Amino acid sequence: MILCANFKANKTRQETRAYMAVVESFVAANEIEDTVMVFPPFTALEHLSRNVLIGVQNAYPAQNGAYTGEITLEQLDEFGIKTILIGHSERRHVLGETQEQIAAKFRFFAENGFVIIYCVGEPIEVRELGDKALMQYVDAQFEGIDCNYTDLIIAYEPVWAIGTGLTPTTDQIVTMHSALRAKTSAPLLYGGSVKVDNAQSIMELDNVDGVLVGSASLGANDFCEMIALAAELKQV
Ligand code: 13P
Repeated sequence: MILCANFKANKTRQETRAYMAVVESFVAANEIEDTVMVFPPFTALEHLSRNVLIGVQNAYPAQNGAYTGEITLEQLDEFGIKTILIGHSERRHVLGETQEQIAAKFRFFAENGFVIIYCVGEPIEVRELGDKALMQYVDAQFEGIDCNYTDLIIAYEPVWAIGTGLTPTTDQIVTMHSALRAKTSAPLLYGGSVKVDNAQSIMELDNVDGVLVGSASLGANDFCEMIALAAELKQV
């Protein structure tokens, strides 16, 4: 399993340090073999972990340059960062990134050998239009994206499930993940209101290879509990 904690714009550097100390020692003490990734805000990137992968939530696709307010490859290299989220719903819908920009970002970070967690997912009004419209919408989010990229991980995060406490039904997740499986052999994560209570039942679904967790990952102990649930699954 792959377990990812996306902090979004939460936590200070100090808080991230304390969090990482808890998660790292949990992973070490329990000899966790699953992949654990944390995506803190840029200001907390000091931390280079050994048993937990640190990634960024975003970056500008350039070596360096005149991109006010952005950070680029040069800054990521300094921290040894080789993992990035691309296409997150909040970048698409809150910050207005277009598919063209997202595809350019994907190409750049793929050329630079990053592990890319590529996020897709539909808003509620699209889901309400039915399966055909839903698949067309998600297909369009793959425009310009190389589904055969070696270090690709896909995250399906329905916009309406993010931060809302709503989750799709088991059938809805399985249907979407099997459609994604037909496109790519990359690991498939589910994200959107994953909590300690529902993490295990989501992780045991067909074609779910892990979870991308927002608010419920902010508590280090909660995130550790989800890591433990994933480890338990392997033993059954
Ligand atoms: P929540 O877990 O807070 O719904 O957020 C999901 C998400 O966007 C993770 O990237």
